[in-house]
Amino acid sequence: MLLLRLLALLSVLGVPLASMGAEDIPPEKVRVTTTDKHALQDGARTFVNYCMGCHGAQYQRYERVARDLEIPEDILQQALIFTSAKPGDHMRSSMRAEDARSWFGAVPPDLTLVARVRGEDWLYGYLMGFYEDASRPWGVNNIVFPNVAMPNVLGALQGRQVCLTDNPGADASVNIAICRELAVVPGTGAQNNEQFDQTVRNLVAFLAYSADPNKEVSERIGRYVLAYLAILFVFAYLLKREYWKDIK
Ligand code: HEC
Repeated sequence: MLLLRLLALLSVLGVPLASMGAEDIPPEKVRVTTTDKHALQDGARTFVNYCMGCHGAQYQRYERVARDLEIPEDILQQALIFTSAKPGDHMRSSMRAEDARSWFGAVPPDLTLVARVRGEDWLYGYLMGFYEDASRPWGVNNIVFPNVAMPNVLGALQGRQVCLTDNPGADASVNIAICRELAVVPGTGAQNNEQFDQTVRNLVAFLAYSADPNKEVSERIGRYVLAYLAILFVFAYLLKREYWKDIK
C-alpha cells in the first residue's frame, strides 16, 4: 500500500517509473527538435506506418498534424491515412483492446502523451533497445523495458540486434535490464546504423511534438513577453528617476 502511494507520488512528481531500477544503464541523451518540419514529417510517416496498427494518438487529429507539419491535403490522404478515417478524425488505432489483450497480453497504450510521461531519452532508448531473446514470446527483449510485450516492429529497418554482454545485476521482475550492451549484426537491416538512428530520432521528435503541439507557439509568445517586459523596465526606470530627481 505504502509502495503504491510512493509510486503514485513519484509519478505525480514526473519521475519516469520505467527508468527506475534500470539506473545502471543510464538513458542516452537525445536532443530532438520539434521545429524541423521535415524530421517531423518523416516521424509522422513512420508512426502511421509502423505504430498505428496497434497504438493510437487519440488526442490528436490528422488535419491538425497536417497543418502543423505543413503536409498538403492530398499527401495527407495518400500517405498518412490508411483507414477509413476522415482528416478531421482523431488518430485512433483500429485494434480493439480485447484483441490486443489476447494477442499480446497487454493493451498497447495511447501514444499521444507518451513523450511527456516517459521522456524523450527513454523513448529513444526503448525504440533502439530491442534485441534478440529466444526465451520471449516475440523472440525479442528490450534493454529499457525488460520482458516487454511489444514485438520489435522496426526490426526490418534496424536489422538483427543482439546482446553482447549480459547485465550481472539483472532482475526483470523489478525492471532491471537483462542485457547491458547491444550490437546490430551489420547488413541485416534495410537501413544502416546512421539511417536507423535518424529514423528513430525523427519518430521521437514526432511523439514529442504530439505530446505538446503548442510548444513552439508558447515559446514564441514567451520571447515576445520577455522582450516587452525588458522594454517596459527601461521606461519604468526612467520614470522612477524622473520622479525621485527633486526629492533626494
Ligand atoms: C504489433 C502491435 C504493436 C505495434 C505495431 C507497436 N507497438 Fe508499441 N506496444 C505494443 C504493446 C502490446 C505494448 C505494451 C507492452 C507492455 O506493456 O509490455 C507496447 C508498448 C509501447 C510503449 C511503452 C509505453 C509505456 O509507456 O508503457 C511505447 C513507447 C511504444 N509501444 C511505442 C511504439 C512505437 C513508437 C511503435 C511504432 C514504431 C509501436 N509501439 C508499435 C504493441 C505494439
